[in-house]
Amino acid sequence: MIITIDGPAGSGKSTAARVLAERLGFQFLDTGAMYRVVTLVCQREQIELSRQAIVAARAESIHIQFDGHKVLADGVDVTDAIRTVDVTQGTHFVAVNHTVRELLGTLQRRAASGRDIVTEGRDQGTVVFPEAECKFFLTASPEERARRRQHDLERRGEHLSLSEILAQQTARDRRDEERAVAPLKPSPVAIRIDTSHRSVEDVVGQLEGVVRQRIPIC
Ligand code: C5P
Repeated sequence: MIITIDGPAGSGKSTAARVLAERLGFQFLDTGAMYRVVTLVCQREQIELSRQAIVAARAESIHIQFDGHKVLADGVDVTDAIRTVDVTQGTHFVAVNHTVRELLGTLQRRAASGRDIVTEGRDQGTVVFPEAECKFFLTASPEERARRRQHDLERRGEHLSLSEILAQQTARDRRDEERAVAPLKPSPVAIRIDTSHRSVEDVVGQLEGVVRQRIPIC
């Protein structure tokens, strides 16, 4: 059984997807982390992100693993390193790389094969898992999304003004929505949920209610 949760940065999809997966006893897949790992590894090895063939070749040889809340790249813990502003700013180069998208899509389908999974990203309900039983698209107001991002960054010791974060977020949204390959958009059958001013508990409760109604076995 596959549940997809897509949406823009800061819409609350990662937290909601993780908690929903725990409640249902499903696997959880953070596909944004995979794009971030490829970006980080290339940045660390000074591979120019715009050189698509070289980035794709390197991406193919990276061993990406998830271990609970940890993300590993070739066995090295990169959980925090992939969340920096630098990596976030670089991901769009990797996100428009067709070969990398195909590779990561294959890995995502492999991770879901034979399992019950909640997977979150930008293209999960549209491109990677068009057959998913349950699809959600989460949004929130730009200001609220920026505030959540600021809070996240502060916890990691990075201090940016709200206006700076809003500007970066707007640029990232635009790139994610306007790219030719696998753009961020809701599947026509996705249930749209605005998470502005709502608690995680409240949002997850709604998601869980829909899933249990659709998939009575859960
Ligand atoms: O979700 P997160 O902010 O970690 O994603 C980082 C970036 O990775 C996004 O801005 C997007 O460009 C890319 N991404 C993607 N497709 C996905 C997940 C993430 O293109 N399924």
